[in-house]
Amino acid sequence: MKPAILVARAIFPEVLSRLEEYFEVEPNQDDVVFTPVELAAKLKGKVGALTTASAKINIELLQQLPELKMVANMAVGYDNFDLAACTTHGVMDSNSPDVLNETTADFGWALLMATARRVTESEHWLRAGQWTKWRYDYFLGPDVHGSTLGIIGMGRIGQAIARRSMGFDMKVVYYNRSRLGTEQEAYANNAEYVSKEELLRQADHVMLVLPYFPASHHTIGEAELALMKPTATLINVARGGIVDDVALIAALRAKRIAAAGLDVFENEPKFNPDFLTLQNVVLTPHIASASEATRRAMANRAADNLIAGLASGKADGRPLDWLNP
Ligand code: 8YV
Repeated sequence: MKPAILVARAIFPEVLSRLEEYFEVEPNQDDVVFTPVELAAKLKGKVGALTTASAKINIELLQQLPELKMVANMAVGYDNFDLAACTTHGVMDSNSPDVLNETTADFGWALLMATARRVTESEHWLRAGQWTKWRYDYFLGPDVHGSTLGIIGMGRIGQAIARRSMGFDMKVVYYNRSRLGTEQEAYANNAEYVSKEELLRQADHVMLVLPYFPASHHTIGEAELALMKPTATLINVARGGIVDDVALIAALRAKRIAAAGLDVFENEPKFNPDFLTLQNVVLTPHIASASEATRRAMANRAADNLIAGLASGKADGRPLDWLNP
């Protein structure tokens, strides 16, 4: 008998077929976003699950699921997992790192360019029929080339963003929990390690790429926004909760900073509606990793993890990207 798993959200059909070679799969191709109660019911009797960021794997859930052995997230971030509780309950966790680095870095740049050069704001104006003439001061914004890029969170995605800045003749400053090695700094466009405060003071464009965990909650709030240049932009491709959205809305409204580009929000998808009242913000629905090839690679990586963890034929299977060995 094959082990039983839940694929908690809709997924590429060929990835489902691959999983069906190894597992008794309960799919969710209608893509119902399960409540915690529904998720617990669906997971009853399952040894594994393929999840996305919408599935909270916490102690309340784990207590109801003694048979569960592994959860594989189709995401690099895993703030939806309580790793300590999973470890206590003997549940292996995996994420899907690396395969999305370059695509997410591309998107960080897309947001930076759109935000600084007011791409969506001017397009909305044009679509609203307001373009009747050219004027010297329509939609002026800060330059990207030759400016200083501040990256908070210099992991693999942050470094990929830094490398792209070489073509724009930018200076890179970064803040991270630990400093990179000399070679890594050189490869990341000679990025200079500074304190968070120094970065916020120096940067023309601030890019957030750090993981969410309790200590990174509201890394950017009122005090941090007050340190930024009034001409600066803030880009978030990391996680909702890293920015205090209420403080950011106030800063954007008062033009304390020039503009923001946001792919992630507190309480998404029910984000703060006040963002919609502002012109100086570019808003996208958590799509930084959404290239066709990368989303397929993420789904396959999550499947690879489940197969290695639960279907290796050995009692001590090991997921490739095991988070709590
Ligand atoms: C995912 C992400 O699309 O990988 C991550 O951490 O934020 C995105 O790439 C999303 O989390 C779906 O699980």
